[in-house]
Amino acid sequence: MAEDDHPQTRAIDGRDEESLKRLRDIGDLRGWLALMEDIGELRTVRSADWDLEIGAICELNYKQADPPALVFDDIKGYATGRRVVAASVSTARRLGIALRIGMNETDAGLVEALREAPGRWARTARDYPTRTVPRGPVQENVVPAEQIDLRAFPAPRWHEFDGGRYLGTGCIVFTSDPETGRVNGGAYRIQIQNEGRGATISIVAGKHGAQNVEAWFAKEGRAPVTVSFGQDPLMLIVGGTDVPAGTSELEYAGAVIGAPVDVVLADNGLPIPAGSELAVEGWLEPDQLAPEGPFGEWTGYYSKTEKSAYLLQMSRLYHRDDPIILGAPPGVPPHDYSYMRSAMKSAMVLDALNRSGVPGVEQVWAHEAGGGRLLLAVSIDQRYPGHSRQVGYLTSQDPAGVYMNRYVVVVDADVDVRDLNELMWAVCTRSDPEQDIDILRQTWGSGANPLHVPGTPAYMSRAIIDACVPFERRSAFPRVARTDPAVLREVRAKWRELFGGQP
Ligand SMILES: Cc1cc2nc3c(=O)[nH]c(=O)nc-3n(C[C@H](O)[C@H](O)[C@H](O)COP(=O)(O)O)c2cc1C
Repeated sequence: MAEDDHPQTRAIDGRDEESLKRLRDIGDLRGWLALMEDIGELRTVRSADWDLEIGAICELNYKQADPPALVFDDIKGYATGRRVVAASVSTARRLGIALRIGMNETDAGLVEALREAPGRWARTARDYPTRTVPRGPVQENVVPAEQIDLRAFPAPRWHEFDGGRYLGTGCIVFTSDPETGRVNGGAYRIQIQNEGRGATISIVAGKHGAQNVEAWFAKEGRAPVTVSFGQDPLMLIVGGTDVPAGTSELEYAGAVIGAPVDVVLADNGLPIPAGSELAVEGWLEPDQLAPEGPFGEWTGYYSKTEKSAYLLQMSRLYHRDDPIILGAPPGVPPHDYSYMRSAMKSAMVLDALNRSGVPGVEQVWAHEAGGGRLLLAVSIDQRYPGHSRQVGYLTSQDPAGVYMNRYVVVVDADVDVRDLNELMWAVCTRSDPEQDIDILRQTWGSGANPLHVPGTPAYMSRAIIDACVPFERRSAFPRVARTDPAVLREVRAKWRELFGGQP
């Protein structure tokens, strides 16, 4: 039997009809957990303390090469069943599952599959308006405002110097545009405040969610918000990545799944995924603020302490029996969701560059070392003088990559942008600092930038490093000293035992 015909080889692909059906049927966080259990992707951890132990276990876990997803149960001080999930999208396989691409994705396969996908999802999102259902599992328990105590749920204190317990890390926060009614979903961290009676939402200025809140403040003096704390990990992906402005993340999620997302409507008019585990609704008011943080962030540093964030005036809390929190703790990268951000941001920036009409763009990679934002690498097939700078400037300023970017490195197509060694080899050998580093000043930054000086505007500068062989010297540039890939393949096959048996 030829290798390609072998049934097991076909099954490993994970994109067969049966696998795709299982992916379509995930539905909610419970459906996802059941699938993870079934395919051996999940480890259950019992008896951990919400106070630092869960965070430390997550950190040890995500520093491993191929971390499993974790579900914490029997958390100290909490009833069995009140669980916390982490590492939901930390590997290519689980990211491919959450994105419904395949059951068995590898890093290379996923990157390839993502080449066109984000653009397609954005274009087709409006074909998947949410479906409002009269009742959903999230309404199994409804808690009125005066009885809300968020400490009833095992929100971890994730890092040693966090300013409190964070119920929202892998959450999704819904706001709307008061003019058009379009709903936006974003992942913003949420800290428990006032002995469980309040919660701060930390949205960076300029994010679509922040723009919506400000527009409501200007129009009505307050802004409606709903938050889901436990849902299909796809929501964490769409909420936490730069889905284009004006595209609802819920509709975008519908386009990913290929079916509309079921929601229930809160009293304030905003949706909550019907299968959510735990959700709140309420209002933000411009003068209702509270100190927030510090929090160990995706940059690998704690956020600042003095900040005031919006304090959500909660009017109702909803939860299923035995609710499950979806956690996504950041830290020094690689961390819980840095792989997800790198893969998604790379695909979105590549898509944006291709749509801009600039030719010859080959690969993009947003390195985890920069939290998937600070360091963007692009490879091109150089076509004309100035091409590499054009790509560098576009990459640094396109909405898909602009927020908190610090370095863009442009290299020739023979360099694998995803290999940091190769990337830095190109920087070291093909860029002359005097000629090839351009600086842009006063570009979009954030207080999350560890170099930001409190009390000053959150600008950042950025460097475009042109590490391409100078266009006019390409034919005379020193030849690269590596063996032809075809010869390497032959030699590897001939001395298979030397190279781990790989053909
Ligand atoms: C797990 C996770 C946590 C995040 N926390 C925050 C946060 O606290 N504040 C923030 O402004 N952005 C945060 N982000 C990034 C935003 O979710 C992201 O920039 C998103 O595109 C914002 O959406 P929006 O522009 O539609 O508002 C987080 C992302 C992830 C994946």
